[in-house]
Amino acid sequence: MIRKCLFPAAGYGTRFLPATKSMPKEMLPIVNKPLIQYGVEEALSAGLTQIGFVTGRGKRALEDHFDTNYELEHQIAGSSKETLLAGIRALIEQCSFSYTRQTEMKGLGHAILTGEPLVGDESFAVVLADDFCVHEPDSVLEQMVALHETHGCSIVAVEEVPWEKTASYGIVSGEAVGDDLVRVTTMVEKPEPSVAASNLAVIGRYLLTPDIFEILKSIPPGRNGEIQITDALNEQAKAGQVLAYRFKGRRFDCGSIEGFVAATNYIYQQHYDVGENYPRP
Ligand code: UTP
Repeated sequence: MIRKCLFPAAGYGTRFLPATKSMPKEMLPIVNKPLIQYGVEEALSAGLTQIGFVTGRGKRALEDHFDTNYELEHQIAGSSKETLLAGIRALIEQCSFSYTRQTEMKGLGHAILTGEPLVGDESFAVVLADDFCVHEPDSVLEQMVALHETHGCSIVAVEEVPWEKTASYGIVSGEAVGDDLVRVTTMVEKPEPSVAASNLAVIGRYLLTPDIFEILKSIPPGRNGEIQITDALNEQAKAGQVLAYRFKGRRFDCGSIEGFVAATNYIYQQHYDVGENYPRP
């Protein structure tokens, strides 16, 4: 059973400068709720209550968000605004939070390896909160956890991207083993469209078996001199131990301005434009 979810959040978020100069991009709000809170809500929806953050500079905002602010709560106690904190309060009550710091930005694989002390020797989830996913009633992570209970191996969420965009993603190829499942044979980080084996791109949801840590320790730096999670997963794939899952739902790349604006409009139209309680907790 998977209980832990790791959130790598140490990247510089350069595409959102100057907003991310002193604040992690995971704190950017979609309407009135930060990306990271949506991510933790998704983890909790899948039954994952032990939350680990791999942070870099600006970690205080993340830590403070998942903590009680007595002064503020005292100020708004008894007012209508109190309900706006109900969602974050529920997360604080139901989850535990731990933090570690990636001191050098050596890539996503390195960030995940930095989280090893928070995970230990068990399968775990990784969520990149800037990939904002929506699906009801079962979240993308819920769908993946259910699959993991059947298959037991590592699982990556994938979606088809336009061919001209393969150079922005980890790209998988393999054999279909079900409607929405591919047993991965190879994974390549950011291939040019001319050499990409498919247009099935890995997005920011992973379920990983704990042997990934030893692999991450043993592989050499890959693309851009960074330790790539794609390279480590490729080692597991050679042993037939990685499934790619075409998830049900919609993903917004909130690491890009266009994706962030699209997600904001989507959530606004879904919840606020129709006169539901405004704003939402
Ligand atoms: P990105 O490739 O989106 O990079 O990282 P970034 O720095 O966050 O954003 P840009 O491209 O400069 O705008 C993917 C995810 O991996 C994490 C990031 O925080 C993000 O969630 N990451 C990446 C780390 O935690 N450490 C790293 O060394 C690299």
